[in-house]
Amino acid sequence: LNPNSQPRGALVVLEGLDRSGKSSQCSELLSHLQSIGCPVELWRFPDRNTAVGQMISAYLSNESNLDDHTIHLLFSANRWEKRSLMEDKLKAGTTLIIDRYSYSGVAFSSAKGLDFDWCKAPEMGLLAPDMVLYLDISPEKAAERGGYGDERYERVDFQGKVREKYQALHDASWKIVDACLPMEEVQKKLREYVVECVATCQNGRALSHLWS
Ligand code: TYD
Ligand code: MG
Repeated sequence: LNPNSQPRGALVVLEGLDRSGKSSQCSELLSHLQSIGCPVELWRFPDRNTAVGQMISAYLSNESNLDDHTIHLLFSANRWEKRSLMEDKLKAGTTLIIDRYSYSGVAFSSAKGLDFDWCKAPEMGLLAPDMVLYLDISPEKAAERGGYGDERYERVDFQGKVREKYQALHDASWKIVDACLPMEEVQKKLREYVVECVATCQNGRALSHLWS
């Protein structure tokens, strides 16, 4: 490995359709890493706590309507506003587990019909994850899981389109995990992937940027 490289935290992203189990698995990974003494934080996008995040939240709950391009750029801005803090945390040695990232941004907006490359453009220059864990589930199976909430994108037909867009985004660095396996098995696989990724970053893997 590069002798000039610094140990740092890992940037791990979980992606998947709504109800694929990302949020539960993210919390599980957080406690697991904490239990083995790894400095770690759990983040999520959209981050509904910022001013931009509140606009996104109002849109998702149908309290406001926005043009498809406008909401796409707000989701992206919501990641940009956390970018420097993200880099600081990673360089300080904290691993970040992130519930959704740019891939959600591109998959959901392009599933509405926006141009795929146009959707990718505003994400360019954000930090690239060291690993993307994709929890794979069919929209039908996802809908069986206690049903969707009332949010804008939580419909079986639309989620099917999102899944196709995710398929167009993934590359060799993605780990695809069958989200229909028993929860403990999904958990076991995710733990193994993440622990290995954390070790690679501690050994000084260089940070890179989207879309690499
Ligand atoms: P989600 O993580 O599902 O929040 P919650 O757990 O509160 O339901 O995110 C809300 C929705 O936002 C989800 O349907 C995916 C969508 N989304 C985008 O359309 N673009 C994005 O960039 C992100 C991060 C999410
Ligand atoms: Mg959701």
